[in-house]
Amino acid sequence: MVAGRFEVNDKILDAPLVESTVGDSGIDIRKLRNETGLVTYDPGFANTASCRSAITYINGEEGVLLYRGYPIEQLAENSRFTEVAYLLIYGELPTPEQQRRFSERLTYHTMIHEDMKKFFEGYPPTAHPMAILSAMIASLSTYYPETGHPQELELNMIRLLAKAKTIAAFAYKKSIGQPFMYPQNHLSYPANFLYMMFAVPAEPYEVPPVMEEALNLLLILHADHEQNCSTSTVRAVASSEANLFASVAAGVNALWGPLHGGANQKVIEMLEMIQRDGANYKKYVERAKDKDDPFRLMGFGHRVYKNYDPRARILKKMAERVLNSLGVSDPLLDLAQRLEEVALNDPYFIEKKLYPNVDFYSGLIYRAIGIPTDMFTVMFALGRLPGWIAHYKELKEDPDTRIWRPRQVYIGHPKREYVPAGKRG
Ligand code: CMC
Repeated sequence: MVAGRFEVNDKILDAPLVESTVGDSGIDIRKLRNETGLVTYDPGFANTASCRSAITYINGEEGVLLYRGYPIEQLAENSRFTEVAYLLIYGELPTPEQQRRFSERLTYHTMIHEDMKKFFEGYPPTAHPMAILSAMIASLSTYYPETGHPQELELNMIRLLAKAKTIAAFAYKKSIGQPFMYPQNHLSYPANFLYMMFAVPAEPYEVPPVMEEALNLLLILHADHEQNCSTSTVRAVASSEANLFASVAAGVNALWGPLHGGANQKVIEMLEMIQRDGANYKKYVERAKDKDDPFRLMGFGHRVYKNYDPRARILKKMAERVLNSLGVSDPLLDLAQRLEEVALNDPYFIEKKLYPNVDFYSGLIYRAIGIPTDMFTVMFALGRLPGWIAHYKELKEDPDTRIWRPRQVYIGHPKREYVPAGKRG
């Protein structure tokens, strides 16, 4: 079926339809350049589908998010992170036996090679944990090289999911000068991480159930978000047939930026700054609206959501619950709620459809749990791992995959002659 007819340079191109199951279908323009001599220009790829994918569906206008068809609200309410990871990677919810086996494998592979502990000694105590996470994930490829066997890739997916949380917790322990705590096999995935973060050898440590529950939820809500910047980066690197660890390490770096996953750290820094400035949040709403001021309300706006981000809605409730349960009173929660209220009623934000996104409330929960601000984006990365892995696997299995190599519209000098140094000026 023809989706579009382009008439350019006296040539006609009939572009076939690429049909979706739900949501935007696509126009297949693969023959465009060969037949018309033109390329498409789409900065930020806002209108470009880089692939066909069956993992996650978002309807940004209506605030809908589905993992493999299941609404995020239902998964958040009922499931465990490892179950969601299985769903994203293998396409279906696990049977009880598949779930048992998957969790067992994730637990078995949690330790990192003892030699890797030495790597942590080389970093300064001030090192950002995202830099450590990315370097360590890339380093896993030195211990578990891929020779192309499918079973080996499958095992490396498990290793990556299992070991990343150990790496993240060790990076934190190193930054505060405490001994590393080894994983405990009887604990769930989120509880094991919290144990490695907060336990010390001198005292017994029980993971508070509300912290385990909150982290389980946070990890689920971050698990995938279709073709965002970091996932597209993982796919771009993977398209060159780079290994899983190298591809995901690149995704970690892409996530670090403040416009992407790094926004959760920036939200708390922004709220702290407003608090120090006498909690005068209205001033900052005005600044965010001023075209001549680079200040933006961090945690607001999204390329795809033009409605309330469904993840933010769930997290707002969880933030209130966690703070209540832990008996934490955080003035920043109150400030965040006021800021949200003002922004949601302000014509600037209404007109531009700027709503709170996932990063707006997540930081307040991490703070209440005791996770330091510079670890927030690491937490996002831990949650996003199943998504990155699922996309890596999908790309590998897609017969349409080609190395990513976009075109450009060149705007530099046309050809000119070299001028020797003495004759210039
Ligand atoms: N505060 C004030 N104005 C904003 C904001 C904001 N947070 N976000 C967008 N705008 C304005 C922007 O100035 C622009 O105005 P105009 O049309 O007059 O030029 C308009 O809204 C559209 O914004 P954009 O930057 O063209 O939109 P984008 O799709 O390229 O960028 C975004 C999306 C998320 C990078 C952007 O909204 C932003 O910078 N938000 C703050 C950072 C943030 O919270 N990032 C986390 C995103 S969610 C987690 C994740 O998936 O990574």
